[in-house]
Amino acid sequence: MLQKQLIDKLYSNHILDHDEFRQLIDNHDEEDSEYLFELARNVRESEYGKDVYIRGLIEFTNYCRNDCYYCGIRCSNANAARYRLDKETILKCTDEGYRLGFRTFVLQGGEDMHFTRNIISDIVYSIKEQHPDCAITLSVGERDYDDYLEWHKNGADRYLLRHETASEEHYGKLHPSCMSLSNRKECLYNLKEIGYQVGAGFMVGSPYQTTDCIIEDLYFLKELQPHMIGIGPFISQKDTPFSDMENGTLDMTLLLLGILRLMFPKVLLPSTTALGTINPLGRELGLLAGANVVMPNLSPVSVRDKYKLYDNKICTGEESAQCAGCLRQRIESVGYHMSVSRGDYHF
Ligand code: 5AD
Ligand code: FES
Repeated sequence: MLQKQLIDKLYSNHILDHDEFRQLIDNHDEEDSEYLFELARNVRESEYGKDVYIRGLIEFTNYCRNDCYYCGIRCSNANAARYRLDKETILKCTDEGYRLGFRTFVLQGGEDMHFTRNIISDIVYSIKEQHPDCAITLSVGERDYDDYLEWHKNGADRYLLRHETASEEHYGKLHPSCMSLSNRKECLYNLKEIGYQVGAGFMVGSPYQTTDCIIEDLYFLKELQPHMIGIGPFISQKDTPFSDMENGTLDMTLLLLGILRLMFPKVLLPSTTALGTINPLGRELGLLAGANVVMPNLSPVSVRDKYKLYDNKICTGEESAQCAGCLRQRIESVGYHMSVSRGDYHF
């Protein structure tokens, strides 16, 4: 089948079989991508119009108990300057974000057990008390069922936990043996059962990733049916075992954004900071390939350059206090509109 016919089939059926996905991923040219993106934009606009949702990201701790080979805040990186934000500082960030028009806050951090079930419950409760019209998203890794349950009861609406790769073998090449894909998947299913809007996702071009890994990711996402999907290129970080590995590409990340939009017409799909890091117009191109969310950084400027999952991360300098304004311009430059709303999934 021709590439365009495959794309049409994906548009109609929201799925392809294994060999068809492989053909599309391995053999597309620029014209095929453009065709895919056009359909992806149509689908995205029929569900969400021209609106792009913004999420205020607060990176509140870079301590982490895990040692993922790709990640700059892995516990064995002695060069990482560690920090934690206290509740007061986090609330200042959300207040400032609220003034700027944010109605979703994402609290993201490493797996930092200093932040116990109760401490996180208290932070979530307090933000919700101050800003009852806002959604709260947590992204703090793999925790107990009862942690997830308690945080949801205290007002957390959404949870981001990328599965990273749906291939057991590939998972083992990215993580130490004490971590398991099955536990990660179990967490995702628990979060869904509890009632969170759930986000999964993976890195594009991570070391040892093959086309088959990517296809497994697509099928796993089909099974999970997440409300959000976060993908971005792998970018090497100099203090990790993967310091010399090649980065993921703009082309492949955009192609996968387009494919995901056709597979999941309603999904909330961010154009990520990592995409903006590998190309100065990466986030704009992501929106044009089917993404409909951006997640500017609301962390205090003083800690931003410490949350270094990968090298050369954008928006960490002094000028970055203005991310919200910068992003509004970027969104408008490609014909979209920055929405001031919670930006919930359209059930
Ligand atoms: N390059 C790109 N993305 C990374 N992440 C972690 N390390 C890197 C890296 N080196 C992603 C992971 C994680 C998310 C918060 O950031 O997918 O889930
Ligand atoms: Fe941070 Fe543009 S989004 S400076």
